[in-house]
Amino acid sequence: MSAPAAPSYYQRHIFFCLNQRAGGEACCADHDAQAAFDHCKARVKAEGLAGPGKVRVNKSGCLDRCAAGPVAVVYPEAVWYSYVDTADIDEIVESHLKNGQVVERLLTPPHLGR
Ligand code: FES
Repeated sequence: MSAPAAPSYYQRHIFFCLNQRAGGEACCADHDAQAAFDHCKARVKAEGLAGPGKVRVNKSGCLDRCAAGPVAVVYPEAVWYSYVDTADIDEIVESHLKNGQVVERLLTPPHLGR
C-alpha cells in the first residue's frame, strides 16, 4: 500500500522551453518562445489563475523535444503542446489551465523528440 500523495502546491504547472541553440540547430527560442512565455504569464495573471493552489508558469531549458518546438508541457497531466502563436497560448490557458480540458489540436506528436 502506498502513502497518500501530499497536496500539490500548485494545481497545474506549465513549463516553456526557452532554449537557444547555436549553429542553426532547431530550438524553441527561434520560434519566439520568450514572447509566448510572457504572454502566458500575463494571461494567467489576468485570469486570476496565478498562485499557490492554482497555476504556475515557468521557463525551462531544453526539454529535449526540439524537433516539435516550440514546446510547453503541463503537469500534473504531463501533456505536451506544440504551439504556433499567442492565440494558441490563449486556448491552452482558457481550456487546459483554467478548465482542465486538453487542447487536442495542439498536442505534440508523440514520436517527435530531439
Ligand atoms: S530547444 Fe526546446 S525542447 Fe530543445
